[in-house]
Amino acid sequence: MTTAKIGGSTGRILVVGGYGSVGATVTSTLDTWFPGRVIPGGRDEARARQSGGVRVDVSDTDDFREVLDGLGDVAVIVLCVEPPDAGAARICLERGIHLVDVGATRRRLDAVAELNDLAVDAGATALLSVGVAPGLTNLLARRAHDAVDGARSLRLTVLLGSGERHGVDAVRWTVEGLAEPATAPPERAALPGFGTRTAHQFPFSDQHTLPHTLGVPDVTTRLCLDSRPLTGMLFALRRAGLLRVARRPGARRMLTGLFRRIHTGGDAFAVRADARNGDRHAAYGLSGRAQSRVSGLVAAYVARELMGGTLPAGVHHIEQLPVLDGLLEWLGSHGVATLRLDRRADSGSGAHGHRKET
Ligand SMILES: NC(=O)c1ccc[n+]([C@@H]2O[C@H](COP(=O)([O-])OP(=O)(O)OC[C@H]3O[C@@H](n4cnc5c(N)ncnc54)[C@H](OP(=O)(O)O)[C@@H]3O)[C@@H](O)[C@H]2O)c1
Repeated sequence: MTTAKIGGSTGRILVVGGYGSVGATVTSTLDTWFPGRVIPGGRDEARARQSGGVRVDVSDTDDFREVLDGLGDVAVIVLCVEPPDAGAARICLERGIHLVDVGATRRRLDAVAELNDLAVDAGATALLSVGVAPGLTNLLARRAHDAVDGARSLRLTVLLGSGERHGVDAVRWTVEGLAEPATAPPERAALPGFGTRTAHQFPFSDQHTLPHTLGVPDVTTRLCLDSRPLTGMLFALRRAGLLRVARRPGARRMLTGLFRRIHTGGDAFAVRADARNGDRHAAYGLSGRAQSRVSGLVAAYVARELMGGTLPAGVHHIEQLPVLDGLLEWLGSHGVATLRLDRRADSGSGAHGHRKET
């Protein structure tokens, strides 16, 4: 296995979307570890300059190349935005620049994964599935998978706080997901801090990558919100096909604006991964506050590891590198005080045992 070439000890870190909801945490956290070497970027020149960064548009490949040429010494790029395709990732990797990608869209992540040979040849590392979901869901899934000695099925459940001020890009992604029909029925799951909730299949990318990375044939991810009435209403609208209009750009913009104004709940979130192998069952759960901030902390942690220059070259999802497993404990001890990690495991259908880990 080739180890990434650029140690990054002297290079800088470009955080694209670095003043957005996720990116602002990435920028500020990395700045405490690498003072003066973190450059936030975005399309708004005034905001970019105000935050001490650069204007950059990753959907315009010529512009992106020019910005990188101008900066000259970028060792790691953190993409806190979802570009339209894998073009920006290709530009990073062919230059031997490491990449952290918080994106959650399956098709684009698959396209970035296809750049593996390019990354290996350039001695660069790309880390995908970085954030809460995908991200922490993938890490919990791997722990649950290991606990049953190889899961045959994985059930992932994500609860998001409808009171959190999610970024425009994240809300747009959710609206796009609501336009897709469910591929599996709803299920009930006990979520740490929230009791038992009904959650609905949702197109998170983790359920598409985990069958390849862990070899689990059957993976489904479901979503609910902290507000039960809002969850019920939203998924009833989806069942009735009324949210398919969000496939049209105008309707998508309108719904994104509308959803950004709804703040009925809190900012707490929870995720849970259930693994089954015959009559063996293990479940790991985690809860915290402010998923945008936690997604940013996850991305910052991964970027710091990349700056160390010891991760293998190539394109990897977060659960494929065991060295990143410590991230779960790091989050628990980081001062995001309400984060906790639980483990339940049983054999057969008997009552769950419960052991608190952090
Ligand atoms: N994996 C996870 O768990 C997870 C969790 C949350 C979010 N996300 C993903 O993270 C991304 C950001 O979410 P967010 O909530 O932080 O959204 P946000 O607050 O809207 O931030 C997006 C940022 O990117 C900038 N931007 C947008 N398009 C750009 C482009 N073409 N080139 C350069 N900069 C651009 C925006 O600034 P300008 O408009 O000024 O350019 C803004 O600063 C989304 O793709 C979302 O799906 C993933």
